Amino acid sequence: MHENVVRDLERARARTLELTDLDEPELLAQHDPLMSPLVWDLAHIGQQEELWLLRSGDPARPGMLAPEVDSLYDAFRHKRADRPALPLLPPVEARAYNYEVRGRVLDLLARTPEADLFTAGMVVQHEEQHDETMYATLQLRQGPPVLLARQPLPAGRPVDGERVFVPGGPFVLGADAATEPFSLDNERPAHRVDVAPFWIGRVPVSNRQWSDFIADGGYHRPGLWSASGWSYRRQAGLQRPKFWTAEGTRRRFGIEEDVPPGEPVQHVCYFEAEAFAAWSGGRLPTEIEWEKACAWDPDRQARRCWPWGSAPPSAGLANLGGQGLRPAPVGAYPASASAYGAEQMIGDVWEWTSSDFAPWPGFTPMIYRRYSEPFFGGDFKVLRGGSWAVAPSTIRPSFRNWDYPIRRQIFTGVRLAFDA
Ligand code: AVJ
Ligand code: FE
Repeated sequence: MHENVVRDLERARARTLELTDLDEPELLAQHDPLMSPLVWDLAHIGQQEELWLLRSGDPARPGMLAPEVDSLYDAFRHKRADRPALPLLPPVEARAYNYEVRGRVLDLLARTPEADLFTAGMVVQHEEQHDETMYATLQLRQGPPVLLARQPLPAGRPVDGERVFVPGGPFVLGADAATEPFSLDNERPAHRVDVAPFWIGRVPVSNRQWSDFIADGGYHRPGLWSASGWSYRRQAGLQRPKFWTAEGTRRRFGIEEDVPPGEPVQHVCYFEAEAFAAWSGGRLPTEIEWEKACAWDPDRQARRCWPWGSAPPSAGLANLGGQGLRPAPVGAYPASASAYGAEQMIGDVWEWTSSDFAPWPGFTPMIYRRYSEPFFGGDFKVLRGGSWAVAPSTIRPSFRNWDYPIRRQIFTGVRLAFDA
């Protein structure tokens, strides 16, 4: 397990450095008020690694940064919109700090027993989550491209609109340390839940389907929208997914291109997802339905590690890791099918669910106590499955992400569900 954690720490760092290998003005700029300047994410990654692994999570314990600098990287203290004005470490100093922290962490891990590696795995996932956030920042950025796609993606096949059946009955929801040692607090504990039968999309909704929704007046029919969704639609003037133009093109990492019809739709908010589902005669899945369709093996009456079985994700099974810079077309991963036949549940796009973010019964906070708990019971919807920008170390069938229902800058898409 040591080798795996060290490998994942190194992979995360390679990605962080690649995403921040930019000229200083690009790193210091605020590319969108929703996002931090990249140089904040950069030093925050090191500051959190130092806090959780070298200072036992106690900010009162002296660290490598002066206290007034250290506190600049406390996400609860400064809102994203205010971060560009802070006296942040310049990029060169941020990199040197991260490098110094990492060296001490590797020394410490060499002396850490297997059973105590959870915090290091948590730190890996924290860095990888910020890497995905930096992809979102770079997608929002205006100007010529700085990121190039480095990985060809498999071709799709015509499966638009297909659905698969999930019979009713109990299954095991969530994870425990014994089966998923790096599952985070909000995924635990595993527990049995009963689920009514339902249908779920074989694949995520495509741009082709979304264009039909637009052409059919989907953005102008209040009857398809929830009350809060319609009020937000009007206030924000939503007409099409974020980054799409009225001319049928989209801007992706500084490149304008035709909207590819076979790709899963991205950059839609929860309210749009809900309206699309109503237009389709369906609804969004609950996160419990989503997880059953993804992970439950009815023959073995047990969970699978991954929808397709126990093999780790690979290029033929899932689009993860960010190098493709986009979701793969629907139908691109027939081998990824879950026991019920749902494909592309891991990678490509985060999928909105109808569930509010709340703890599983028996929830206990992890060392990073404020990772999940402050967000339970707020106005957050759960997202499942991970996007193309997510690292394999940071996604599992039990992994729960959350965001406000109005957010569209993240790599979000839709998978439909239908009552049986
Ligand atoms: C789980 C993606 C909602 O980015 O706000 C990063 C992850 N928490 N640093 C976020 C996180 C603290 C979190 N999300
Ligand atoms: Fe963070």
